[in-house]
Amino acid sequence: MKKIDFNVPCCTNNGLLYIEQAIKNHKICGDGVFTKKCNEWMEKKFNAKKVLLTTSGTSALEVAALLCDVKPGDEVIMPSYTFCSTADAFVQRGCKIVFVDIRPDTMNIDENLIEKAITSKTKVICVVHYAGVSCDMDTIMDIAHRHNLKVVEDAAQGVMSCYKGRALGTIGDYGCYSFHETKNYSMGEGGAIVINTNIDDIEKAEIIREKGTNRSKFWRGQIDKYTWVDYGSSYLPSELNAAYLWAQLEVADDINNARLKIWNIYYRGLSGLMRGGGRTTEYSKRLYS
Ligand SMILES: Cc1ncc(COP(=O)(O)O)c(C=O)c1O
Repeated sequence: MKKIDFNVPCCTNNGLLYIEQAIKNHKICGDGVFTKKCNEWMEKKFNAKKVLLTTSGTSALEVAALLCDVKPGDEVIMPSYTFCSTADAFVQRGCKIVFVDIRPDTMNIDENLIEKAITSKTKVICVVHYAGVSCDMDTIMDIAHRHNLKVVEDAAQGVMSCYKGRALGTIGDYGCYSFHETKNYSMGEGGAIVINTNIDDIEKAEIIREKGTNRSKFWRGQIDKYTWVDYGSSYLPSELNAAYLWAQLEVADDINNARLKIWNIYYRGLSGLMRGGGRTTEYSKRLYS
């Protein structure tokens, strides 16, 4: 019997070359040339205010939870169907997770059930764009604005996906991407936080990501020495990982097109087995109508 791999990590021709360049440049810690290339590429491609590579999608969610400034006892609404990291990031801050059921067609949070779950303690709605299929962001953002809630988009699976022409991750207050080996674009372990709010949050995110220090400002020459200024952790990925990812972002559209081609082969081959009504049917109708 022929085994089909669950996933084969993406590897492009320039991956090794760029890793070698990082080594030869004697710059293998974070925020070197390749990290900057990745950040800037995403900012341009996704029309995002600020993107910062992180060590994982999980750590991007942790940064988002810190930026939301949630406190123990605050409630966070999220779909009952997701990866554990979505909840972990807020559980770490002492929040109560309020799960809302999902829609059978998209497997995403049912936007019509969100308002019923809101209480005086609710602070954040954390949506998940499952398998790169977008949530109904117009409705969700409207609810969030009316109730003065923050929105975090767990777009771990949504890099290069859009909602009404806007890149997933750029619609809520904060977006979180994953570049884990299993994702379409990969750096082994890695991710990114997208900040769509204001300059204060961008500065705060830089500090959180750099162990609570203002080292990012120091590298930009804005201060003459860096110090510990706030809480934080080590969320800055190595240049080796960023170099590997950069080789993929350079040809991101080619990778996406190749994925779509393969998806179509599976879809055509398997669609005869569907009895209708399922997620794939609804999603495919939307995609290919
Ligand atoms: C929806 C979702 N959120 C968060 C994550 C965590 O990402 P990472 O594995 O990069 O920490 C994943 C990873 O699969 C995910 O699918």
